Amino acid sequence: MPIDAQWVGSMPELYDSRLGPALFAPYASELARRAAALAPATVLELAAGTGRVTTQLVRALPHAHVLATDLNDGMVAWGGAHVPGATWQQADAQQLDLPGGTVELVVCSFGVMFLPDRLRGYREVARVLAPQGALLLTVWDVVAANAFAQALVDALAVVLPEQTPDFVARIPHGYADPDRLRADLAEAGFQDVAVDRVVLLGRAPSAQVLAEGFCGGTPLRFALEQRGQLDELTARVAAELELRLGPGPVEGELAAYVVTARRAPR
Ligand SMILES: C[S@@+](CC[C@H](N)C(=O)[O-])C[C@H]1O[C@@H](n2cnc3c(N)ncnc32)[C@H](O)[C@@H]1O
Repeated sequence: MPIDAQWVGSMPELYDSRLGPALFAPYASELARRAAALAPATVLELAAGTGRVTTQLVRALPHAHVLATDLNDGMVAWGGAHVPGATWQQADAQQLDLPGGTVELVVCSFGVMFLPDRLRGYREVARVLAPQGALLLTVWDVVAANAFAQALVDALAVVLPEQTPDFVARIPHGYADPDRLRADLAEAGFQDVAVDRVVLLGRAPSAQVLAEGFCGGTPLRFALEQRGQLDELTARVAAELELRLGPGPVEGELAAYVVTARRAPR
């Protein structure tokens, strides 16, 4: 498993509690609303993480069977404990152990950026989708369009000027290209690809909470651990974030692409 895609130990808990409400919950509502409009009977969620979207899918589609999957066992364990309304399984999105043509809707919230081979992942989705089945996914826009990510990148450049980790721009914000999204999905066997740029407001209780989430609850953690003591670096990042975002509760604009596509006839 690539180090940039690993969530181990305390990472699922830090990710869910510190970053979930600020960054992922706003788009979870957007995805659940769109999923409900499609009214599928079977939903496969890929890269489901701690189940922020899963919770809302289960609520929005009470009669659907929701299979939530993730690469990391720690995420699957967390999700299974906190969102029992779905079935949880470990799965690499690039290699699904499911029969072809059986799923009506596939949902992937902020997961495809982590796939080493996205086309392979998209082809797997096309394979498991039923005829006319749909894919719904989200991808972050560039760092500069996301206030918290920009503040983090600036903070890291001050705290670690010699060896600044590039994880944030390279992975979560490294696929912010609507033309490429459209081209990749068309090549993998999708049609009617719609890419909407959706801007929402993120809120967190403090810069400290965001620093704990970014530094301890994402794979940025591994780059920090290679460069020094995680606690000390997190405290310094928190201080820099506070300079940029202010003391007390913080707010920032979030921007992401919400993508819908249909499986093309074979
Ligand atoms: C930023 S989190 C998003 C989690 C969740 N979808 C959400 O919106 O909160 C990215 C997730 O992708 C998962 N992931 C990374 N590579 C994966 C792969 N190859 N297959 C499935 N999941 C993967 C990680 O384990 C992690 O849970």
